[in-house]
Amino acid sequence: MASHRTVLLAEAVESLAVRPDGVYVDATFGRGGHSRSILARLGPAGRLVALDRDPAAVAAAGEVRDPRFAIRHARFSRLAATARAAGVEAADGVLFDLGVSSPQLDEGERGFSFRVDAPLDMRMDPSAGESAAEWLERATEAELREAIKNYGEERFAGPIAKAIVAARSRERIGTTLQLARVVAAAVRTREAGQDPATRTFQALRIHVNQELEELSLALPQALELLAPGGRLVVISFHSLEDRIVKRFLQREARPEVPERLPLRASEMPQPRIRLVGRAARASAAEVAANPRARSALMRVAEKLR
Ligand SMILES: C[S@@+](CC[C@H](N)C(=O)[O-])C[C@H]1O[C@@H](n2cnc3c(N)ncnc32)[C@H](O)[C@@H]1O
Repeated sequence: MASHRTVLLAEAVESLAVRPDGVYVDATFGRGGHSRSILARLGPAGRLVALDRDPAAVAAAGEVRDPRFAIRHARFSRLAATARAAGVEAADGVLFDLGVSSPQLDEGERGFSFRVDAPLDMRMDPSAGESAAEWLERATEAELREAIKNYGEERFAGPIAKAIVAARSRERIGTTLQLARVVAAAVRTREAGQDPATRTFQALRIHVNQELEELSLALPQALELLAPGGRLVVISFHSLEDRIVKRFLQREARPEVPERLPLRASEMPQPRIRLVGRAARASAAEVAANPRARSALMRVAEKLR
């Protein structure tokens, strides 16, 4: 089975401050790099529940034969209900290692990569929702432009959306290379070291998997699920994700004082978390060994009460 090179492995598990008898949730099992390291730190009474929306990741988790471990096929926007149904009342740590896994990118047939010709799917969970090709068939030009602009941070979102609409009137855009060609023809300047389709593919992937909505829904649930003193660790891979994480953590660490003043001391909003350290990046050595680590950013918080 294809492997995944875990990013910030030691740093993330260190930040969870794993207690041997603690209960942990890995919201993004992938190929279990973080999960295995957490299990290695747990004693006999510890527990780890992992989630992944990708059936291939869930199948890979079958290799972890450990009575302290359970895997669930679920989106992390259902984190609280999934964890509770798996018997977790309160967690001592929740980890998110966001984005796609190496197998998702490398197994060409998943349709995530513009380097391999394959049906344009891009769903992390191919058993649910609409594929990228299906969406490209029915989206309006304005919807395409907005998604490509907002999720791909692409300057040429307008021309690309127009080119997609023109191309699909001739034939269905059903494969990765078809789309890559349409995009390449519409992108007028080249960014050094980057394929012209990179940003559009990122945008479609984020749209198809509703990645930002998933994250926005999951973070409050993770905080709810944590026991006092529990740790939240989030690794993100692009600025759109990190912005959501950063704002959420800042809001919970320094809640806004309502405009209506004066307030009694008991009415002052109390912080629910404290931030642990600064946002951390992978070391130069890790980035040299694994280019995917270049954009990784890890944020850590501890629940106060
Ligand atoms: C970067 S990989 C995780 C790698 C993992 N930490 C490891 O060491 O092997 C991200 C994983 O999260 C999963 N994922 C992404 N978004 C998800 C969501 N909303 N709900 C559940 N799983 C998700 C993906 O399917 C993928 O397997």
